[in-house]
Amino acid sequence: VSRFRFRLMYLLGKTRWDSGITPPEVVEAFEEGEIPPGTALDLGCGTGTNAIFMAQHGREVIGLDFAREAIVRAKRKARAAGVADRVDVRVADVTRLARLSLPPIAFALDIGCFHGLPTEGQQRYASDLAQLMTPGGRYMLYTHDPDEARSANFGISQEDVRALFSEAFTITRQEHGEFRGGGTTWFWMARRT
Ligand SMILES: C[S@@+](CC[C@H](N)C(=O)[O-])C[C@H]1O[C@@H](n2cnc3c(N)ncnc32)[C@H](O)[C@@H]1O
Repeated sequence: VSRFRFRLMYLLGKTRWDSGITPPEVVEAFEEGEIPPGTALDLGCGTGTNAIFMAQHGREVIGLDFAREAIVRAKRKARAAGVADRVDVRVADVTRLARLSLPPIAFALDIGCFHGLPTEGQQRYASDLAQLMTPGGRYMLYTHDPDEARSANFGISQEDVRALFSEAFTITRQEHGEFRGGGTTWFWMARRT
């Protein structure tokens, strides 16, 4: 999905994913103490719900999204939540991570961004993220399965995710689910040491 389309969806409020609720999988990971201390990165952070959640759990958070409209709202929400000093949200392209001079990342979160990227962008994202992550760092990724009915390049298969990440990451857990009639997968990964 193009940047233009995402910006338009935020302008028009056609953002059904923007529920304002952090998924239970993420809440659980933080509450069970599975997330190492250090900087957290939210890739495709949207209006910042999960970046703010992570800041409230004591993390310094960097949130990236290429839709300016989403970042403006994320900044406003972080100020309202009193965590603006710990949430650094930026208009940026997640397929160009190496350009951003980011600090080492202990935890990365991607809810619904990766599966919509062009293949070449997915490859660059995967290798740049592996470079950024500290050994033993955790990565949680939520994807939609391919859906030809929606668009030829919507979604990603579990096999393709494995192929892109398994050299640098151990996939510690994987759960398939369903959302509004389509298949989805949560992946839990750890950066190999
Ligand atoms: C389905 S939304 C999910 C947003 C957020 N993670 C959430 O759970 O509310 C996908 C987000 O990824 C962003 N996005 C898509 N491609 C991107 C890219 N190449 N660089 C940065 N952000 C991107 C979109 O603007 C959108 O905000």
